[in-house]
Amino acid sequence: MVQIKIFDTTLRDGEQSPGVNLNQLEKLEIAKQLDRLGVDIMEAGFPASSQGDFEAVKKIAQTIKNSSVTALARATKSDIDIAWEALKDAKEPRLHVFIATSPIHMEHKLKKTPEEVIDIAVEMVSYAKQKFTHVEWSAEDASRSDLKFLATIIEKVIDAGATVINLPDTVGYTTPKEYGEMFRYMKENVPNIDKASLSCHCHDDLGMAVANSLAAIENGATQIEGTINGIGERAGNAALEEIAVALNIRNDFYPYTTNLVLKEIKRSSDLISKFTGMAVPGNKAVVGRNAFAHESGIHQDGVLKNASTYEIITPELVGVHSNNLVLGKHSGRHAFKDKINQLGYTLTEEKLIEAFKAFKKLTDRKKEVTDDDLFSILTDIQTDVSNVKRYVLEAFQVQYGSLNLPTATVALTTPDGERVETACTGQGSVEALYNTIEALVKEEIHLTDFHLNSIGKGRDALAEVHVSMTVNNKAVSGRGSAQDVLEAATRAFLNAINRVFLNTVTTKQEANI
Ligand code: KIV
Ligand code: ZN
Repeated sequence: MVQIKIFDTTLRDGEQSPGVNLNQLEKLEIAKQLDRLGVDIMEAGFPASSQGDFEAVKKIAQTIKNSSVTALARATKSDIDIAWEALKDAKEPRLHVFIATSPIHMEHKLKKTPEEVIDIAVEMVSYAKQKFTHVEWSAEDASRSDLKFLATIIEKVIDAGATVINLPDTVGYTTPKEYGEMFRYMKENVPNIDKASLSCHCHDDLGMAVANSLAAIENGATQIEGTINGIGERAGNAALEEIAVALNIRNDFYPYTTNLVLKEIKRSSDLISKFTGMAVPGNKAVVGRNAFAHESGIHQDGVLKNASTYEIITPELVGVHSNNLVLGKHSGRHAFKDKINQLGYTLTEEKLIEAFKAFKKLTDRKKEVTDDDLFSILTDIQTDVSNVKRYVLEAFQVQYGSLNLPTATVALTTPDGERVETACTGQGSVEALYNTIEALVKEEIHLTDFHLNSIGKGRDALAEVHVSMTVNNKAVSGRGSAQDVLEAATRAFLNAINRVFLNTVTTKQEANI
């Protein structure tokens, strides 16, 4: 069995998904979960792209002790210096530096000749090597690059000290056969290829990212890059959970193993979906709500007789438990603490008290508190930013009837500590609320997307709302959960507005990636 390294880029390429903007606390929580999941390497961000990204990478590098933490840099000295400042406290600082190698990118984007690109790549890898022991070099748009040119530049960057060579299918253009052949070609034509390991990095524009990644490892790649839930630019990146489970279930065919702790997959998927606001489609392989549901009579009959008739993956393998009913009105602090430890959370005493209060408040209104409910409470408390100056919701009221115009009244405390209150109408209750908040805040707001999900089942389930919007021309996302749909919608809207005070918002254009 060949050991395949898992390189997770959820916090970098995944965070480049349109409308996704995570704050530092959310990134840290995701990083801790990726660590529990057992990823070998996690790409924590792109430090030169914004102060917020720099600080998040630094915090993650200082906190994570099992996975190796890396960060992205363009092929410039200043990007590399900034990445070093962010990563120098990591257990095993590692840099990921890239430059484009395809004719289209070199000519139109970089406006450089192939020879100039080689010189820059070699100079920057040598420069990075003065600071970092591990340097990964990526040939952006490798799959549309000339193979001979690629072989030449790879040989030179390995001589300059690159320890990993990554060949991304940046635009999701390649097919499994072509992508596999590119790796074989490099194995056979780069004289010093044994001094570095090969990595694959696939995007899913044609729906082939997972298949392409598997083809790469069949042809010599020993590292796979991807994201949880396959989130990322455009159609996203290769979904790491799908790759790891494919290797596990089809180990009769694929002689490869990974260090991923498969039973942490579902929790990782839920956490990332919650924080990014990117819902997992019900039919998504491995982590979708319906991935283990059998609807037709024939299938149900078969599964009841013997699960293996229609079930190739057991839900338990990836951490899906059907009976997650846990605590109720009479559960005490001890049971609560045990349960949250079981769920993988370690809270400070102060946060524990806060979480317990929120749990008790919920049990007043909800008889059965599920893992999903607890997960929602805990993630909100872990990422609470109440120490930051921001808008605070004091009260709201909505008047709605089928015969009159919905009217909302909202009271807020502003970041300057002033209490403000007003009322506005809208075509619906949510619009009335949002119009009212917009009238109260100074920021310029434009709502671009709104999603409402229920957490768990039943009529007393919690509502969770995700919004995408621009606040003062910056793209932000926000989320809010509450038992009432309108309260969840109000909280999500304010959560998004408040993100401009968290110093983490950078548009993709500003970051120039
Ligand atoms: O897809 C890509 O080419 C990238 C590089 C920056 C590695 O994400
Ligand atoms: Zn990418």
